Amino acid sequence: MNRILSGMQPTGNLHLGNYLGALRNWVKLQDLPTPKASADKSTKPTEALAKEGKAECYYCIVDLHAITVPQDPQKLRQSVRETAAAYIAAGIDPAKSTLFVQSAVPAHSELMWILSTYTPLGWLNRMTQYKDKSAKSRDLELLGLYAYPVLMAADILIYRATHVPVGEDQKQHLELTRDIAQAFNRATNSDFFPLPEPQILGEATRVMSLRDGTKKMSKSDESDYSRISLTDDADTIVKKFKKATTDSDVLPDNVKALEARAEADNLVTIYAALNDTTKAAVLKEYAGSGWGKFKPALADLAVAKLAPMTEKMRQLMADPASLDQILIRGAEHANALTQKHLREVKNLVGLWSF
Ligand code: TYM
Repeated sequence: MNRILSGMQPTGNLHLGNYLGALRNWVKLQDLPTPKASADKSTKPTEALAKEGKAECYYCIVDLHAITVPQDPQKLRQSVRETAAAYIAAGIDPAKSTLFVQSAVPAHSELMWILSTYTPLGWLNRMTQYKDKSAKSRDLELLGLYAYPVLMAADILIYRATHVPVGEDQKQHLELTRDIAQAFNRATNSDFFPLPEPQILGEATRVMSLRDGTKKMSKSDESDYSRISLTDDADTIVKKFKKATTDSDVLPDNVKALEARAEADNLVTIYAALNDTTKAAVLKEYAGSGWGKFKPALADLAVAKLAPMTEKMRQLMADPASLDQILIRGAEHANALTQKHLREVKNLVGLWSF
């Protein structure tokens, strides 16, 4: 049985990059059709998974990762609920997927310690995220931030997950996870951990800032105009796309011509992903059009897709007790599986387990 695990940090508003690069794919993987007969290598990863059979999905809110930078406790708790509401509003169904908060499942942290003893510092020194974040402030040169990728490996491996749907920026962490899994298997002379495969799916695997097409859309960008948040209302979405940085050319008739036009490429990518089509199909429709035509069309599309989700999030947030119940049930389920796996890991390593 395939098992899928992924997670997001509960810091501030989730944005269009989180949705198109990850969350939307989580919903697709949760709702995979039942297997078809022959497996064919030419199919897309989602289709390949569908052919192998339905996967068990675990989606978590990684609050232990969030505290690697300073957090306000009240706001953090609220962000966790908001993130849970976003998952459900986007289509994650707690009856089909296990939805839980990382800190409510202690086996993640316990496995992280064990895995850290198989992780050479040289591997962590290569991680670009630590270098980027710690370069911004000496106060962030912390063991927790440095060890962040080992906790991420533990999140995945404690479930013995086979597939991990993420955006492109997480690829390096996924490679490290595979290396750690291999190091553990080798050292314990076992094949306990499967090597998880990244699932980087769809047209928008790396959504860029609306202000600067060379920078990733991110929660931490100072400018709110750089991103579309999942809680933005229709007017704000229209305004943000209107102000988005672009060049002055019209849209080309082929995808290759977008390569040297980062901002144009980003907006076409966002349109394609929201409309569940390809960049080529978007250019077929808009080749020769200027931004005066394309930007309002993109804003309308984004509003049509996001407004129902934003409304659903608002309704879910109005009933925090029900959200908490979902997270408690999810944690119970996740704890049952992870405690079983942790016992097996401890046995392999020679640690005490009862
Ligand atoms: P985080 O919280 O930064 O992002 C959550 C997910 O959103 C994707 N993403 C994007 N995709 C496309 N374009 C963008 N601009 C963009 N920004 C973010 C990310 O790739 C990610 O899939 N380390 C992880 C959280 C994590 C995790 C895990 C993920 C912890 N444990 C285990 C998978 C499995 C992170 O910080 O994601």
